[in-house]
Amino acid sequence: MDYTVKIHIKNGLEYKTVPEGQNLLKFLNDNSYILKTPCGGNGTCGKCRIKVSGLLDKPTEAEKKLLGVEQVEKGYRLACYCHINSNIEIYPEDKQEEAKIITYGRQRKVKLNPLVSKKFIPLKQPDISDQNADEDRITAALDGLYLDSNIRLLGKLTKTLKHDDYKVTLFCEGKKIIDVESGDTTGNLFGLAVDIGTTTVAAYLFDLVLGERTDVFSVLNPQRKYGADVISRIDYTMKSADSLSDMNKTIIDCINNVISVLSQRNNIKNTSIYEAAFAGNTTMLHFLMNLPAAGIAVSPFIPVTTGPHTFKAIDLSIDINPK
Ligand code: FES
Repeated sequence: MDYTVKIHIKNGLEYKTVPEGQNLLKFLNDNSYILKTPCGGNGTCGKCRIKVSGLLDKPTEAEKKLLGVEQVEKGYRLACYCHINSNIEIYPEDKQEEAKIITYGRQRKVKLNPLVSKKFIPLKQPDISDQNADEDRITAALDGLYLDSNIRLLGKLTKTLKHDDYKVTLFCEGKKIIDVESGDTTGNLFGLAVDIGTTTVAAYLFDLVLGERTDVFSVLNPQRKYGADVISRIDYTMKSADSLSDMNKTIIDCINNVISVLSQRNNIKNTSIYEAAFAGNTTMLHFLMNLPAAGIAVSPFIPVTTGPHTFKAIDLSIDINPK
C-alpha cells in the first residue's frame, strides 16, 4: 500500500507517494530534503529532528531520550527512527548552509602543460591528383600525431572534414588524436580541478589556453546525509547491496551540478571541459570511483588503491566532454 507525504516547503506544498513502512530518513534523503545526520541514520546523534503529523511508529525510549519528551509532545520526531504507516505531513526546516571554504589564495606561476591540447589545421582539400585517405590527410599535416583507433572517431571523420571545407581542429591527448572538431575551436579548452572534502566540494574552472583560473564554485558535500565523518559513511555503504552506489551517485550528481553551474555562469558548454582532476582523502576517492571502502574502516585498514588513476569521463559518469 502507498501513502502520501505532504511536505511544507518554504514557498508552498509538495506531495510525494511513498510505500508503506518506508523509513522517514530514507524518504527525505531520496527526495533531497537533507537533515543534519552526523551519525548517518544510526540513531545515536539525535540531530535528524523533523516536525511530523500523522501516524508513525511510537517513539521508543531511546528516541525520547535523544530528542526529549517535550519535543516529542510538540510533534517532533527523529527521522531515522520513524517508518511511514499513514498519510503524513512533514515540515522540513530550511537547513541549507552556505559552504564556507577558502577558495582563493596566492597562485604560483606554473608552466602550462595540460594533458590535452588542440591544434587547428586548414587541410588541403582532396582532388583526383591527391587521393589520400582522410586519416592520412590529417596525420600527414602534423608531425608525430596519430589517430586513436576508435571506430566512432573514424566514422565521424569524413563528415567533420567536409563540414567546414577541411578546416578542422584536432583534439589531442599527448600525440594521440582523440577527436576532430570542425572549424577552429582552439580557444575553447577548459579544465576542472575538484577538491572533494568530507564537508565541502570545491571546484575550480581553468582556461587551458590562457592558463588562468576562470571561476570557483563550492558546495556542501551532500554525502553528509549518510553521516558527518568517513566512518559513518563507510558504515552506510556496508548496509545493503545498493548503498555503495547511492554514495557514488550522490557525489557524481553533486559534481555534475557544480559543472552545470560553472558552465552556465561562464557561458561555455560542459563539453568544452576536456579534463578534470579530482583530489580527496582515500575514502572520498573510493566513493568517487564506486569502490568498496569497507577495508579502510577495519583492521588491518586496507584500501583498494591509493595511487593516481586516469579514466574516461564517461566511465565515471562525469558530465564533461565524454572523450
Ligand atoms: Fe543520527 Fe537520526 S539520530 S541521524
